[in-house]
Amino acid sequence: MSDMSTIEPGGPAQGVDETSLEMGIDPFERNWIRVSILLLVVFFATVSISGFALGFQVNGADQEVDPETVLDTPPWNEPGLRQISPGVYEAWVVALTWAFQPAELEIPVGSTVTIYVTSPDLQHGFKITDTNVNMQVVPGQVSKLEYTFDEVGEFPYICTEYCGRGHAIMAGTVKVVPETANGSGNESDTTSDSESDSESDSESDSESDS
Ligand code: CUA
Repeated sequence: MSDMSTIEPGGPAQGVDETSLEMGIDPFERNWIRVSILLLVVFFATVSISGFALGFQVNGADQEVDPETVLDTPPWNEPGLRQISPGVYEAWVVALTWAFQPAELEIPVGSTVTIYVTSPDLQHGFKITDTNVNMQVVPGQVSKLEYTFDEVGEFPYICTEYCGRGHAIMAGTVKVVPETANGSGNESDTTSDSESDSESDSESDSESDS
């Protein structure tokens, strides 16, 4: 009752500190606002670095293809692995409902492969397990990524975008084989004259690796 008597209509109560009536932000809330702003800065930096420093960009006009005719257009009419120079390859992969062409890529260990993927029908995904190769495959666009396969083994590639009934079975395999297994390794700068050596090496290599 005594408190009520001190309140005057139209003004602050007598004896109440005026600063406490000003709008303030709770310290706990203020810290969360700071965290939120920091996260925005981190996200912005991440997107900027991956976009401009690492080159993750939306495909340009030079990477467009006609999905209607792409399967008849070189090099897409013969998808597969192509050697550019010792240890340097290009892989041309078509993702379509519901398979990858080719279903297997055999790559000598240590090789750097530029992977090109496109789709003639629906949106698909191309992810090679246990690597950071993971691309969206959009009809009319060519997705491209470079990767060096440093480890011998089998790395399945799978579709990561739901594309219908066969999505779950849409897969293939990268087989990273010992360097000398097919005579076209990374260090064979001297090309053809290393053939006899690589033949004998491949036997012992594959045995020790398996
Ligand atoms: Cu193709 Cu999912």
